[in-house]
Amino acid sequence: MYFIANWKMYGDLKSLNSLNKVIKFSKQHKKKRFKIIYCPPYTLLDSFSKKIKKTKIELGAQNCHFEMSNGPFTGSISPSMLKKIGSNYVIVGHSENRSSGESDNVINKKIRSSIATNLKVIFCIGETLIQKKRKLTNKTLKKQILKGLSKIKNSNKILVAYEPVWSIGTGIIPKIKDLDKNVTFIKNVLKINLKIKNPKVLYGGSVNPKNVEDLASIKSIDGFLVGGASQKAKNFIDIVKKTII
Ligand code: PGA
Repeated sequence: MYFIANWKMYGDLKSLNSLNKVIKFSKQHKKKRFKIIYCPPYTLLDSFSKKIKKTKIELGAQNCHFEMSNGPFTGSISPSMLKKIGSNYVIVGHSENRSSGESDNVINKKIRSSIATNLKVIFCIGETLIQKKRKLTNKTLKKQILKGLSKIKNSNKILVAYEPVWSIGTGIIPKIKDLDKNVTFIKNVLKINLKIKNPKVLYGGSVNPKNVEDLASIKSIDGFLVGGASQKAKNFIDIVKKTII
């Protein structure tokens, strides 16, 4: 099971202290099969990287530019810069970036350069509330997958995070039955259309210590992408505990 902490635009050097508890927890349970990945803002990647050295916790970034190494792109960070600073993962296609204009085509380019740089990609997909109401969920998810992952070979480097847009930061999660159906649909598209043998699909959107047991009852889910609830060590540890212990 994967547990990914997406800190979004939160956190400063002081917030690194909250990692102590998580490091301790991860050491105590090192025999269990789970992976914790922290995705702090760019400004904290270096400090995080130093802090989690010699632990099983891994580091990821929240986005990257599609250009692999360098270029005249003010304000951007490339996959190879992320790799050099100790990041092994990168989130691509988050709805908060899609909503500010990131297209499937740009997402595809970002995924390709990330994989070429040897980063693993946490590829976010999800339908909006309007798409859900219009019964366009499957169509939307399939389009996002086929366009986002077009011409990608090393698909074992991809974790798909299913995050219904209406569920992010709202406290609302999908009905368990619907979520199970959607995760199965996503896995089938990955297997049938993209010939990925053992696809990994995580769920994200308002995951918290109270609802995680219900969510984890869905056997096809391979982990969680956690936003708000990942900022407090206790909440994040509780989410992991309730899923794996
Ligand atoms: P949330 O965010 O857990 O705060 O809903 C999840 C995400 O955006 O990845």
